[in-house]
Amino acid sequence: MPSPPTCPGATLQIDKNPFYGEKLTGKTCTSLHSRASLRSMAMTFDPEAVRTFEHAGWQRAARHYLATFAEATRGFAGDLLDAARVEAGMRVLDLACGPGFVSAAIAERGAQSVGLDFSQAMVALARAENPRVQFKEGDAERLPFDDGSFDVVVANFGIHHVPCPIRALREAYRVLPPDGRVAFTAWAAPAENIAWRLLYDAISAHGDLAAAETPPPGGSLHLPDDLLHLLDGVGFVENEAKRVYREWRVTAARDLLEGFRRGTVRTAALIDAQPAAALPQIEAAIACDVSAYRRSDGFAVPIVAILGSGVRS
Ligand SMILES: C[S@@+](CC[C@H](N)C(=O)[O-])C[C@H]1O[C@@H](n2cnc3c(N)ncnc32)[C@H](O)[C@@H]1O
Repeated sequence: MPSPPTCPGATLQIDKNPFYGEKLTGKTCTSLHSRASLRSMAMTFDPEAVRTFEHAGWQRAARHYLATFAEATRGFAGDLLDAARVEAGMRVLDLACGPGFVSAAIAERGAQSVGLDFSQAMVALARAENPRVQFKEGDAERLPFDDGSFDVVVANFGIHHVPCPIRALREAYRVLPPDGRVAFTAWAAPAENIAWRLLYDAISAHGDLAAAETPPPGGSLHLPDDLLHLLDGVGFVENEAKRVYREWRVTAARDLLEGFRRGTVRTAALIDAQPAAALPQIEAAIACDVSAYRRSDGFAVPIVAILGSGVRS
């Protein structure tokens, strides 16, 4: 029987990890850009490559999502709907709905819920899981809805996956009436997010953080200011952004690595790009460090989201 991994007193390498300071300003599509800067961005940033990469990834992840990464995202749904002030009778669009549990929570509040996702596999899953809720296949940057069709638009961990987040927010603005509300979540920077720190530190120590050849994301949405900048840029008013703290409950340390590997896209690509020989060491390092978050029934790994909201002027 193999002996359990020993922990060499590993500490999180927060200051040494180059990914922690990730900021892609100037090469991405988070905010408003001049024509000249858009021209120079085109040299380095290809929105269609991001869309294709994300779409293929979510199509793949759909069948594992509920058992893996949804355990991390689900806990933020109540805060999201509270920030958007979702109430009975409202028409609410759930952008990038994935398997549809946020859409279902909207319906439970007595509101009229429509979930939209560009992954056919996610939409099929959402319909199977929530037969009473309406779901539609479509892209967040080109919403298949008329102007002013919804009272509220929400997105739980969807906007940062879109090649040009500001286009998605402009579309949200378009489908809202004056005084309609938008709210969305994104993950706080890995430096603040223990689940990501555990993974990145393990890869930093035993693998290669630069191994994945993925197209750069459409924007860096890790700080309250990033979300405020986006909301301001579109013309929303009364904008707010704050951190929300939750835990990702896993029964075994391995579930954390598998959660990222099977239930995400960009982080999964990083894990899959690691040399095969490094993976057992990466897993062992995570198993050591995650023990700090042990509970009687597994592990409670701290996670942090940024929740932004605004009102259509
Ligand atoms: C991390 S999952 C979030 C799912 C769900 N909202 C949740 O709370 O777990 C990201 C979702 O965004 C969807 N997505 C990514 N880019 C999109 C786009 N351009 N238009 C519509 N959906 C998109 C993916 O298919 C995936 O279902």
